[in-house]
Amino acid sequence: MADERIVLVTGGCGFIGTNFIRLIHDIQPHWRVINLDKLTYAGNLHNLRDIEEGENYRFVKGDICNEHLVEEIFAQEKIDTVVHFAAESHVDRSIYGPAEFIQTNIFGTFCLLEAARKTWLGDSWGGIDPIFLHVSTDEVYGSLGDTGLFSESTAYDPRSPYSASKASADHLVNAYFHTYQLPVVITNCSNNYGPYQFPEKLIPLVFHNCLKGKPLPVYGDGKNIRDWLYVMDHCEALLAVLQRGKTGNCYNIGGNNEKQNIEVVELICESLDEKLGLDSSGKPRSSLITYVTDRLGHDRRYAIDASKIGEQIGWQPRVSFEEGIEKTIEWYLANQDWVERVIDGSYTRYYQEMYGKRENIG
Ligand code: NAD
Ligand code: TYD
Repeated sequence: MADERIVLVTGGCGFIGTNFIRLIHDIQPHWRVINLDKLTYAGNLHNLRDIEEGENYRFVKGDICNEHLVEEIFAQEKIDTVVHFAAESHVDRSIYGPAEFIQTNIFGTFCLLEAARKTWLGDSWGGIDPIFLHVSTDEVYGSLGDTGLFSESTAYDPRSPYSASKASADHLVNAYFHTYQLPVVITNCSNNYGPYQFPEKLIPLVFHNCLKGKPLPVYGDGKNIRDWLYVMDHCEALLAVLQRGKTGNCYNIGGNNEKQNIEVVELICESLDEKLGLDSSGKPRSSLITYVTDRLGHDRRYAIDASKIGEQIGWQPRVSFEEGIEKTIEWYLANQDWVERVIDGSYTRYYQEMYGKRENIG
């Protein structure tokens, strides 16, 4: 891979995109980054305030579904690398309002693929070997029982509108490889956590509610299992795939860190009790745990076999779950102003227990 890249990052003001742009800024400062983000509720321009003045960085506020805008950016900037994060990403929201997921996750991905096809496969392309990286999820594989792992050859079996929209996008990306030989790679990653995650997802929601003394909603019996990966480990994996991945391939990325949801919630409560002392009523924070009605179609277990990326690309996760949770707690405690800014009182959570009642985080 050439040393200089002109990278279109989509959704760079969201959780993983922000961390990825920060990684590139630190270790590939000569790469040019164009961040295209619509700034939905999940995108926050402030995340990148300290690096936005850099001459190798440009922010474009816009929608990936705007074909003309996307094509214009490809032409103007001579984009040779796409790292595609932009998506509607929260399963609960997809259950109560799937339309935006279909639009952004499927049609938006199609618009990006078309722009890449027209630019890179035309006779006039004179740039370096291009690459289109689609950042996808392990949820496309469906739900596991007590045993087994998702590998790259596991058949797709998405079960929520979110995972079905990501699976559709993956199929389109693969189709562009097989039909047009567009140089693509797909990564399917497990659940991320870390700095800049919007507090609708389990881990930051639990921090937030603990600090506000609010109930910690645990869906169903709390025994659903997710594999957790620290976000910077994911970002390092993406960079490694850009540099050493083989086009036409997909790579599973995971933390080898399976936990039941209730274990995650209890660990956060204990860690906050240790750091901050018991809450104002003198009770451990675990007393806030409240079992609520289960998510519709709740996938039971996700677990990843990440041996392909280990063997072929040499990537391994570096941050243990305990260490990652500590780092994340420290970040949230030091960045309460960020939390207040992103949840300005207008955000409505949707989950089965609350549906019809509306709950604003704040
Ligand atoms: P996020 O919800 O935090 O951020 C999404 C970003 O995309 C936001 O900045 C938002 O403004 C932007 N966006 C949304 N619609 C857009 C549109 N139409 N045009 C332009 N920008 C738009 O998401 P995240 O957690 O950072 O996830 C990023 C990607 O990684 C997603 O594709 C997701 O499917 C995938 N992924 C996430 C996880 C996870 O645990 N968070 C795990 C595996 C894969
Ligand atoms: P989430 O962070 O929404 O990620 P995903 O659904 O993509 O895995 O949820 C992680 C797990 O935590 C999932 O099993 C649902 C559960 N969960 C709760 O029990 N309570 C909550 O308030 C949330 C948001 C999630």
